[in-house]
Amino acid sequence: MKKGVKRFGWGILIILGLGGVFLALAALRVEIRRNEKVNIEVAAIELPQDAASLQEGKRLLQTKGCADCHGEDMGGRVFVNEPPVGRFAGSNLTLGKGSRVVNYKDGDWIRAIRFGVDPEGRPLIMMPAGDFHGMSNRDLARMIAYLKTVPPVDRESETQKIGPVSRVLYNMNQMPLLFSYEHLDRQAEFIDDVKVESTAEYGKYIANACLGCHGPGFSGGAIPGTPPSWPPAKNLTPSGGFAQWSLEDFKKVLRTGLTPDNHQINPQFMPWKATQAMTDVEIEALFKFLKTLPARAEGSR
Ligand code: HEC
Ligand code: HEC
Repeated sequence: MKKGVKRFGWGILIILGLGGVFLALAALRVEIRRNEKVNIEVAAIELPQDAASLQEGKRLLQTKGCADCHGEDMGGRVFVNEPPVGRFAGSNLTLGKGSRVVNYKDGDWIRAIRFGVDPEGRPLIMMPAGDFHGMSNRDLARMIAYLKTVPPVDRESETQKIGPVSRVLYNMNQMPLLFSYEHLDRQAEFIDDVKVESTAEYGKYIANACLGCHGPGFSGGAIPGTPPSWPPAKNLTPSGGFAQWSLEDFKKVLRTGLTPDNHQINPQFMPWKATQAMTDVEIEALFKFLKTLPARAEGSR
């Protein structure tokens, strides 16, 4: 009997010990990544100065949902604050006190938005560069040109706090957003411009902004790295309810968050306050593209 208890005790100790080692290794791997220096050369893009381009840059910034994490005023905002997961805050992108971009050169903007790496080569944490990586040079230039004109806001940029749950998830390859630069092709050729028209091809270009949440195959499911309180993203392939939707239904959701079965989507989870700024052509193109997708089981990403 005594022997059995002893053995049991050892068993628990060994399990606890292994758990501790796993946690420590998980934490270590994140620290190594975080302090890595990544060298990314970016090709220069000329930034436009005319009013129409700046206006379009502002609209693009809105449709991409940058405000969700950087605040409506671009002065920075805490967007996750759940201690086991972490405390994540977009940086202050204005020229006010606490800004991270005062010394930014044009190339630094491009590197951060396209590759998720800061001017010192430090990987940006929880910055979804993958969603913006495929933007055309022209669209990116218009967006950056507008960002440089945003009125200064005084707000301290925060250092990201990565919680133990995120560290473990990262080690299980379940948190691609933690260091988005790892998943991006540094040798990619970027398109100069894209033809704005109501085609599936243009829709595919716009749909890059949906991949991070709806998955590369658009089948939805739990969004990697989000707290358990978040609803899963929906399946947008023909095996999901979306298959029965008309273009009008789709427009309504992207502009008001209201689904055909009268479910009001919370804009914190599905960014319809951002997609609200999409043009009719963008929404039609997206719709056409989504209709070309092969069916996939919900959540198979
Ligand atoms: C899911 C949240 C999220 C979204 C959406 C997002 N960002 Fe970020 N971004 C961050 C976080 C967090 C940081 C700071 C990362 C760090 O401190 O390591 C950041 C950093 C940056 C930086 C680098 C500034 C610095 O800290 O050196 C730039 C530039 C930037 N974001 C631009 C954008 C633009 C433009 C968009 C929209 C096209 C955007 N971001 C959308 C979360 C986000
Ligand atoms: C930040 C994550 C996120 C991004 C980015 C995102 N979505 Fe969603 N989406 C969600 C979530 C979560 C839901 C489910 C919301 C709910 O159930 O209340 C959803 C629901 C939807 C729905 C409703 C589907 C249904 O069957 O009810 C549509 C349509 C949709 N998204 C389209 C898009 C499109 C198109 C894009 C890109 C332009 C996009 N989403 C970008 C998270 C996101």
